[in-house]
Amino acid sequence: MKLSNRLNHIIKMCNYSDVIIDVGCDHGYISISLIQKNKCKKCYAVDINEGPLNNARSNIKLYKLENDIKCIQSDGFDFLNQNGNISAVIAGMGGVTIANILQQNKDKVNDMDYILIQPNSYPKDIRKFLYNNKIYIETEDVVFSEGVYYEYILIFPKRQGVLTEEIQKFLLDFEYEISTCIMNNIDGKYNDFILYKIRKYTLILKELEKIRVKNYEKWNTFNNRILKLREYLNDN
Ligand SMILES: C[S@@+](CC[C@H](N)C(=O)[O-])C[C@H]1O[C@@H](n2cnc3c(N)ncnc32)[C@H](O)[C@@H]1O
Repeated sequence: MKLSNRLNHIIKMCNYSDVIIDVGCDHGYISISLIQKNKCKKCYAVDINEGPLNNARSNIKLYKLENDIKCIQSDGFDFLNQNGNISAVIAGMGGVTIANILQQNKDKVNDMDYILIQPNSYPKDIRKFLYNNKIYIETEDVVFSEGVYYEYILIFPKRQGVLTEEIQKFLLDFEYEISTCIMNNIDGKYNDFILYKIRKYTLILKELEKIRVKNYEKWNTFNNRILKLREYLNDN
């Protein structure tokens, strides 16, 4: 099965876990690839809506993986009543929806080995939720796929991580909007992403400059963010 860069990177970032729950499975490609790449023994393909779940069912049948992937209609983790070596992927939804899915079943979330989150928008809402709930972010990444930068947030809820002062300051300075992965911009890996964010903030500055009654506070906030982002560019 040929996957987009976005989906491929999800599979790459998943470590082995006995069970992986694919929340919001829709087409079921994540579940199918996780099984094909031996990332888990059993996959639960979960969707709140019947239409997408039927979509997943037909694709799973096409790949003859009905014994390895169980399709479940559920709102997030509501269906889950077991523990053990269980992990999850929550991908392709907005940040608020994903934060709500985590919030709704916080105890179950805290019992999981890892959760890989790939929001399609508003990743800041997820970072803010994780920060406020003291859930440690193990690692973050950004991947360019089909004209869009996608962000990945990997959490290990059982691990007691400590957020350094530097990371806390970073999150608060950018109001959770920027992925912490740019702090490790080795070999300029994230330069394009940083430049993309600088261009976005520069456009916001220009819009603010057009307004007759100037909002200097807002202008300064974005200007400071641009200056800070430049510090993370790696010229080597
Ligand atoms: C755009 S699709 C993403 C499909 C796939 N995960 C991907 O990344 O390509 C989002 C899916 O999430 C489902 N969804 C939305 N809210 C959900 C929830 N609370 N619990 C389970 N599924 C949900 C939708 O029905 C839809 O099929």
